[in-house]
Amino acid sequence: MKVLLATQKPFAAQAVEGITGILTEAGHEVVKLEKYPDQADLVKGVADIDALIIRSDKVTAEVIAAAPRLKIVVRAGAGYDNVDLAAARAKGIVVMNTPGQNSNAVAELALGMMVFMARTQFTPATGSELLGKRLGVQAYGHVGRLVGEKAKALGMSVSALDPFLSDEQILAGGATPVHSVEELYAAADYLSIHIPALPSTIGSIGYDLITRMPKGATLINTARKEVIDEEGLMKALEDRPDLKYVTDVMPDNYAALQEKFGLRVFATPKKMGAQTAEANINAGLAAARQIADFFATGNTRFQVNK
Ligand code: 3PG
Repeated sequence: MKVLLATQKPFAAQAVEGITGILTEAGHEVVKLEKYPDQADLVKGVADIDALIIRSDKVTAEVIAAAPRLKIVVRAGAGYDNVDLAAARAKGIVVMNTPGQNSNAVAELALGMMVFMARTQFTPATGSELLGKRLGVQAYGHVGRLVGEKAKALGMSVSALDPFLSDEQILAGGATPVHSVEELYAAADYLSIHIPALPSTIGSIGYDLITRMPKGATLINTARKEVIDEEGLMKALEDRPDLKYVTDVMPDNYAALQEKFGLRVFATPKKMGAQTAEANINAGLAAARQIADFFATGNTRFQVNK
């Protein structure tokens, strides 16, 4: 089978080598499309492929229509909001992700961002410490749980909200369960967002929620920019000069935010949460194994579009 590794943001060389090794050994051919400038390149690149490995690359209905042989798409990572699941399902194409494989990298970045903001973006101004502060974790999945564990090691107290987990499951991870998003925000000196972008979550974090945060609080978003209501965020930062926002997913209105709020806001120039050699290797190799296994045995364990 012909497998396309399509990564606009390429994997570390070691990950690409590993992916190629696993798939070649299993009898497949690997072709690469890295750093491509246009979506049209992806549409063109899928014409004769049977399987596709991607990151945040956009697998739209147009891409799917251009790939008559395609049988499986593996998103080497967690979020699959970049794949048109319905279009894939309509063509019988299996879509998978690689849950948990890049979580540690994202969790470490979230913690790093907290320190960065607490220490006024590494300027000489007097900062504050994380010790003794309260962290709220919004969605206690692979990343949220790791952020909580690491924050506890720094002496923070951790509460978490996750509608898909029982109190026992949250307690077992070491956090205190909270039962409403309002309650979570109201008691979080640091609030780390780990919800996916879904119709129900897009634009769900806005003025009302953000202004519930206590004095001096920081909101950290290493999830998706779409979950933030950007106008609401702007207004919240205007009305509450004590609040801060740090994100790995640059808001559309970042230039305006920066101009108005200076060191109280920060966004990475390009999403980098999962951009470590380790995360690339973990997620990339898992994707390759899942494809090899799918063609060898029909295993669809990580399918997300059933
Ligand atoms: C994910 O959903 O796995 C992360 O957001 C990482 O995305 P990336 O592979 O585009 O860096």
